[in-house]
Order: sequence, then C-alpha cells, then structure tokens
Amino acid sequence: MSILNRKRIVLAVTAGIAAYKAAFLVRLLVKKGAEVRVILSPEALDFVTPLTLSTLSKNQVEYEFSNSDGSWNNHVELGLWADLMIIAPATANTLSKMADGASDNLVLAVYLSAKCPVFVAPAMDLDMYRHPSTSQNIERLKTFGNLIIPAESGELASGLSGEGRMAEPENIVSFVEDKIQSKAPLNGKKVLVSAGPTYELIDPVRFVGNFSSGKMGIEIAKAAADMGAEVSLVCGPSAISTEGFAIRRTDVISALEMKNAMESQYTEADIVIMSAAVADYRPANIAEQKIKKKEDEMVIQLVKNPDILKGLGEKKKNQLLIGFALETNDEIENAKAKLKNKNLDMIVLNSMQDKEAGFRKDTNKVSFITKDQQLISHEAKNKSEVAKDILNFIVEKLML
Ligand code: CTP
Repeated sequence: MSILNRKRIVLAVTAGIAAYKAAFLVRLLVKKGAEVRVILSPEALDFVTPLTLSTLSKNQVEYEFSNSDGSWNNHVELGLWADLMIIAPATANTLSKMADGASDNLVLAVYLSAKCPVFVAPAMDLDMYRHPSTSQNIERLKTFGNLIIPAESGELASGLSGEGRMAEPENIVSFVEDKIQSKAPLNGKKVLVSAGPTYELIDPVRFVGNFSSGKMGIEIAKAAADMGAEVSLVCGPSAISTEGFAIRRTDVISALEMKNAMESQYTEADIVIMSAAVADYRPANIAEQKIKKKEDEMVIQLVKNPDILKGLGEKKKNQLLIGFALETNDEIENAKAKLKNKNLDMIVLNSMQDKEAGFRKDTNKVSFITKDQQLISHEAKNKSEVAKDILNFIVEKLML
C-alpha cells in the first residue's frame, strides 16, 4: 500500500507539451488511492482538456479565478485542503513566476496559498533548462522548501535531444512517495494496536462480552498507517473494515487469543497501544455442545483472564507502551494507578461520565496522563481526531 493512499493532492498543470503526460500522472495517483484535484494555467488548456483530467480524477478541474456563474474559485481553500501539491509540468515561465511570487493565474495563487509540501517537475527545451535564469529560479525554489523532481534527458519536442524532459509520471510518483514516506512522522516505526472487545465462550453459540465496537483502536491503526508506520492490528470481534489501509490485521475472539497475538509481535514493536476492551473474566469451562435450558436458575463460574497489558509492561524493553482506562469514578486517581501498575508510558483516560465518550459512539472525550505526571485534557472529538491526537502526542512528546 502506498503512502499516497488517501492523501489529498492538488496537481497543477502548466503550458508545456508534457502536459499530455498529466493524464497518466492523474491515473497513477488515483490508482495509489490519492484524491486528486487538478488545476490548470489558462494556457495549459491549449495542450490538454479539462474533460480528460476531470474524468480521470473524478473531480472538477479549475483554471480560472471565477466560474461562469460568477462564483469565486477559492484558491486559499484548495491550498489548505491539499496534503501535497505537484506542479507538473512546470514551465520556465511558471518557475520564474513562482520564484518571484507572482500570482496572475490560479496555479500560482494556489501555490502561494499552499501550506503543504510542493513538488515541482520542470519541463522545457534543453537551452531553456540550461539557462542561468532557470537554474537560479530552481535554486531559489529549493530554498523556499519546494522539492524539485529533476528533469530527464531524451528527445525533446523541438527535435533536439538533451536534458529538460519532464520526469516520466512513474518516476514523479516514486519520487513523491519516497519523499513523503521519509518525512512521515512514523516512518520506520512498527506500531502494534489492539482493538475491540473479546468474546469469552460459554458454549459454541454464546459468550460473555462487552459493547466495544473496536472503532477507537481501528482509528488509531488507520491514523498510524497514514503517518507512515508499519501497522499491526490485533482485533477482537468487530464489524469495522480496515480494507484499503496498509494494516496487517489479526482477528481474534478471546482474551487468551489476543494475549498470544500481542505477545508474539511485541518484541518487534516500537509503539504498542492497547485499546481493546478485554473481558476481565471468562467462563471456567466452555461447554462442547449448546447448553440446554433446564433449571430456573443457572450459574456460570468465571475465572480471571490474564491482564495482557500488565504482562507487556513487565516485559517492556524499548517499546513505548500506551494503555487505556475506562472509569466511572475517581477517574484520574484510578488511571494513574493503572499507569504505574502496568508500567506504561502513557494512559488514555475516557470517562463513562461523559455522554460523548464510550462504547458504540463516534466521539470520544479523553485525557492523556504520562508517566511523568503530565495531564492533558481534550474536548470531545470524533474518534478519528482523537486517534490523531494520541499519535501526534506520542510523536511530539514521547518519541524523543
Ligand atoms: N487490559 C488488558 N487485559 C485485561 C484487562 C485490561 O490488557 N485483562 C488493558 C486494557 O486494554 C486497557 C487497560 O488494560 O488498556 C485498562 O483496562 P480497564 O478495563 O480500564 O482496567 P482493568 O485493568 O481491567 O481494571 P478494572 O476493570 O478493574 O478497572
């Protein structure tokens, strides 16, 4: 799975003959799972049609500051929407204007508004490419933090042969992938996450369990994959899919299965986040056949499940170990005790007293408590946002 999966990309096309390759580039980016919005300089319309690019990108193509109905194309919004911007082909004229801060077309205005990494693929004839003004513009653009995708050598539209051809779309994509992956905050890290409930069997058709949907842990696994980590998810019974994400998923049912799966991957892991709602007890015996209804009352004897997180805490070497605490009373005291007792680096506290928090909800309201006693409380947010908060906190505060 590519790091470009689910990334939002603005592709800006300017007026060079290599603009025809933009169609292939859009296709490749879409195949990688990216959402692509194409913008054109007005002169690029002589080389490629908006219809081709909008069909391939499945998004409207923009090339003017205003639309025919008089509405405004919000270049600031587009610049902020993007996770990354690619300008391909970037003509000598566009490079010069970018270096000078001109903004007389939509491409330049979006470029100036963009807060994300900007990749530039120059394309022009060899003498234009060699000209000192072009080289200086490219050098200036690098000092602004833009990433230049080197032009390639070969036959040019002029009939001459030499350096100046836009990099092939495949090469542009691998250049962008390599750079984005290497800059990803969790690049090279192995993240192990547990999610969901555990079901403890009573007989072949019944179990003791809880209402956890798995959403919180699955959002953490997805966010970690988006941040460039190698992600392994150990998931109790959950209907939520992780398809389309670079996540290695091991489905388990009981606490004992979850324990085995977590322990077998623990040594390798850099960051371990135990967000599963593990059943504390399991039936002492699992009936082999479906239990028949007989007496008016029935007793199921339960035995304690191992505390998976505590076991991981005891074996901890270099891993960052993060647990969750679900509390109904004396929340902070109880969470701090769990943090210490289970040898954690951080615990994420969710309180059952908050109506926005808990099982089967899309939102959560959490506080982070670290082993050095920091307490950071957050507002109620979507679980996907909470997942990003947790991982950003780990990257910024714990991974030093
Ligand atoms: N946990 C675990 N194994 C268990 C029980 C809990 O690994 N058998 C983990 C949970 O995944 C969570 C943390 O321990 O990260 C705290 O879980 P919680 O249910 O809040 O606390 P418990 O330790 O089970 O204590 P209690 O239920 O008494 O509050």
